[in-house]
Amino acid sequence: MTSNKELLEKAKEISQRAYCPYSNFQVGACALFESGNFYVGCNIENSSYGLSLCAERNAISTAIANGEISKLVKVAIYSPKSSKCFPCGACRQWIQEFAKGYNTEIILEDENGECCSCYIDEILPYSFNLI
Ligand code: THU
Repeated sequence: MTSNKELLEKAKEISQRAYCPYSNFQVGACALFESGNFYVGCNIENSSYGLSLCAERNAISTAIANGEISKLVKVAIYSPKSSKCFPCGACRQWIQEFAKGYNTEIILEDENGECCSCYIDEILPYSFNLI
């Protein structure tokens, strides 16, 4: 199993590929699934601002497009512009969808450059669910 520190490193690396000419706020994410496979994503902005894609949803989309069907167990998120770069509301809902009942761990970097984590059920309590 990939360590939290390694996942954060992968999020850091991919944040350098962010396409964010409007906000100049780079974000990278690395999503680890129960299968042991991981997928990375960066944010991709658009001149029509509302069409921008977050790093977390990019990583999860890549996972699904690659045939990943297991539970989403960990997501590391990194921005060089902010310590503890928590996922936005939309990304929390996406993480919760692919957690499939598992309490996914969210891995962040704190202000001292150390790994820290929280869980999706903590940051998205009473979430909307159809299944
Ligand atoms: N962003 C992410 O990639 N993930 C989040 O969870 C929040 C925000 C991106 C979107 C936009 O490109 C930039 O950060 C500034 O909002």
